[in-house]
Amino acid sequence: MNRTIRPFSLVSMALMLATALYASDLTKAYDMPDASKIVEEDSIDDARKFTMPKDCKLDSLEAIERGKYLFHNLNSKSAKEKAPKGLAKPKNGEVKPYGNCVACHNIENAVGGGTIGPDLTNYKKVFIDSKTRDAEFVYQKIADPRVDNPKTSMTINLTTKLFNEQEVCDVTAYIVQSKSEKKK
Ligand code: HEC
Repeated sequence: MNRTIRPFSLVSMALMLATALYASDLTKAYDMPDASKIVEEDSIDDARKFTMPKDCKLDSLEAIERGKYLFHNLNSKSAKEKAPKGLAKPKNGEVKPYGNCVACHNIENAVGGGTIGPDLTNYKKVFIDSKTRDAEFVYQKIADPRVDNPKTSMTINLTTKLFNEQEVCDVTAYIVQSKSEKKK
């Protein structure tokens, strides 16, 4: 008797757990690029290792401004401020997707920064200066986070062509530079 009931109760427990997990998935409350959809459309290329291009200008103020803009906005349509100099313009009627990294990450002066990913505030001091990370790591993480973490829930940006190389450089520049003295 017990034997027939047992598998059933296991199934219902699994269902309850799945429902609870779904209900507690705070990502539903944020506006963010749907990585799974993008990946599906691109028929899921394998994780790819990238090398940071030599001409990545990590200390260029213009690159940092572009990176900041990509980090804090979802796309070219919903962005309130004007796109900074050098950012690819969306073609007629097209909506250019940005990173909206702020949906999952907190960083300096973020408005309602997310907590799904690690806090990237003071990244230079906390990670780069302490030698646990470098710009190359950040570049790869943004380009294709699966190389470092196959089970990551982070958006894949370069393999999916959501970003181009320059945009990955720009966001890397924004993350790895010291922002502590800058109020903006
Ligand atoms: C859907 C949520 C999500 C989005 C959107 C997202 N991330 Fe992440 N990110 C994560 C998670 C979760 C981790 C930790 C797991 C991992 O390292 O893959 C992470 C890790 C990272 C790390 C590594 C931190 C460290 O040193 O360990 C960096 C850097 C990063 N993200 C940058 C970005 C940038 C830049 C963007 C926007 C282009 C972005 N993330 C968008 C969820 C997200």
